[in-house]
Amino acid sequence: MASSALKERRARFKRYKEDVDRRGKSFFPYAMFHDTVMSLVVVSVIVALAIIWRWTADDNLKPDGTGDYTGWLGAVYTHKADPGTTNFVPRPDWYFYFLFYLLRIFKWPDSVVLGTVGIPTIALILLLALPFVDTRSERRLSRRPVAVVAAILTVISMGVLTYKGATAKESLGSELAAIAPTWAQKQGFSGDSTAVNGAKLFAESGCLTCHTYLGAGSSNLGAPDLSSIGSTSQSVDFFSQYVSDPSEFGNNVMPKFGEKLTKDQINAIAVFLSKSKGAGGGGGGGTPWGQIIALLALGLAVLLVLSLAATRRAPPGYA
Ligand code: HEC
Repeated sequence: MASSALKERRARFKRYKEDVDRRGKSFFPYAMFHDTVMSLVVVSVIVALAIIWRWTADDNLKPDGTGDYTGWLGAVYTHKADPGTTNFVPRPDWYFYFLFYLLRIFKWPDSVVLGTVGIPTIALILLLALPFVDTRSERRLSRRPVAVVAAILTVISMGVLTYKGATAKESLGSELAAIAPTWAQKQGFSGDSTAVNGAKLFAESGCLTCHTYLGAGSSNLGAPDLSSIGSTSQSVDFFSQYVSDPSEFGNNVMPKFGEKLTKDQINAIAVFLSKSKGAGGGGGGGTPWGQIIALLALGLAVLLVLSLAATRRAPPGYA
């Protein structure tokens, strides 16, 4: 009852076995010898790097805890981490930039699960399923256009995401303070020096690690865009109280800035917030092109794998 495709596959397998008998080498000792040599090389390189790293390290650590103890290959140890810092943005190693950038494309909270768990898992399942879907024994690249196109697209998309992740603007206070004056123009409060000062404080105080403002900053932990918060017609006093101690308003996510900033500083931020009327509808929102493109790419990947299954035809002979 064997279909012709199955017969063809069995014949191919038989040919393969004959080939192995004729030209193959046994696993022991040939393949094992190769593996042993290669493993030895890798381990030796690691040991050599460790020696160079430790040997070239100079002790520049000062008694007050500043300075470092660094070799050619990086720090042996540096001064203690400061948990209260606001000008350091943790970033992953470069080979994770493409995943890191996916996190930026998919915004908290609606689609972040899709970006962090969904897409990588689907991509992995596609990869695991591939040998079962594509059972042809064709190996020549020119006869596997679908697989080649899929591979090229994967490399390109990972390259683009890595590049975008590497050049992505961080919510660093110093960088954001530089764009704060442009907000005054867009929002029309250039004349109000308290509000302009508040804008600068807003940019430097870490508000933009959770909130977005006229397209700046990153939205996290469900914090709303504040570009048009002033049009809610809340008073300056209300904003002062809110920012001083958000927990009084049921917000336990946002830090109590009353503990960090002076009354005058909080007041300036409050004036700035009340003057933020939304710059003629600009800022925030917009079409989520990043998400649309990412989903299209994912759809294309699924289609490519499915089309591999559809074009499962017996080749004239295996290459
Ligand atoms: C750790 C994250 C975080 C930081 C940092 C933060 N916020 Fe918030 N903020 C939130 C969240 C979350 C909410 C929404 C709470 C809610 O809806 O109950 C919020 C709400 C607000 C609101 C009320 C918005 C509304 O629609 O009622 C204002 C105003 C505000 N934040 C201002 C600020 C300012 C000013 C700073 C900086 C000095 C700041 N936030 C820093 C997380 C943060």
